[in-house]
Amino acid sequence: MSEQAALVLQAEKVTQRFGEVVAIEEFSLQVPRGEFLVIVGPSGCGKSTVLNQFAGFLRPSSGRVLLDGQEIRDVEPRCGMVFQKYALFPWLSVERNISFGPDMRGVAAEKTRARVDQLLQLIDIEPFRKHYPSQLSGGMQQRVALARTLANDPEVLLCDEPFAALDAMTRQVLQAELVKIVAAEAKTVVFITHSIDEALLLADRIVVMSARPGRIKLELQNSLPRPRSVEVQNTEAYAGLKQQIWECVREEVLASMSKT
Ligand SMILES: Nc1ncnc2c1ncn2[C@@H]1O[C@H](COP(=O)(O)OP(=O)(O)O)[C@@H](O)[C@H]1O
Ligand SMILES: [Mg+2]
Repeated sequence: MSEQAALVLQAEKVTQRFGEVVAIEEFSLQVPRGEFLVIVGPSGCGKSTVLNQFAGFLRPSSGRVLLDGQEIRDVEPRCGMVFQKYALFPWLSVERNISFGPDMRGVAAEKTRARVDQLLQLIDIEPFRKHYPSQLSGGMQQRVALARTLANDPEVLLCDEPFAALDAMTRQVLQAELVKIVAAEAKTVVFITHSIDEALLLADRIVVMSARPGRIKLELQNSLPRPRSVEVQNTEAYAGLKQQIWECVREEVLASMSKT
């Protein structure tokens, strides 16, 4: 496989302006197939902007974003997004929420049913298939949102702080589940978080963005052994990585505070 083919996502010197505001500037990033990449950075540094470009929701002011070597010019169904707000359809049951995408695309009902069954198992929510979103906890709703995105069989999973609104324990459970799901489904993931612990638990590689205009300030391979149970947090290697990331993030948070 050529090096090019091994890259799923690429951002090439991407600049995004919103009027006067330069959200990101000459931002470049390459994501190899199967990687779990985590992006951290201060609030307002352009993290969501990057994801929205990969999803095709936003066209860069200059530069290019590519999927499988081809420029992303429109909403890209091969990139599935999971947001902090679950945004489930309140009037649809869990299973209908999950099958919504395939139903809209006219996928054969038989095929969709099989996939929905498989996803309900994978996300541990089978007994709740007939429930409505309002009957579910936040953690359950986020599971359904994840399944709904996976039902579209995206090549890439884009996650914009998906666990930020959850309590710490639910969050831990979902982190572990996400790792399991990503392995089972062999997805490439770009995941945004404010939590350095979450980044260290999930990532193959971690990218720290600078204060606005966002660029990559630090990039590091996360070589902590998998599976990463909570015990890994008591190791020296973990403490060292956390310190390194925190020092970098802290500088940028301070820089972004002095700008606003
Ligand atoms: N649609 C938009 N219109 C105007 N400004 C925007 C828009 N989206 C983002 N911005 C601005 O761009 C900067 C980066 O935003 P964003 O990518 O959401 O940051 P992050 O996700 O890192 O918090 C912020 O200053 C934000 O206010
Ligand atoms: Mg954001």
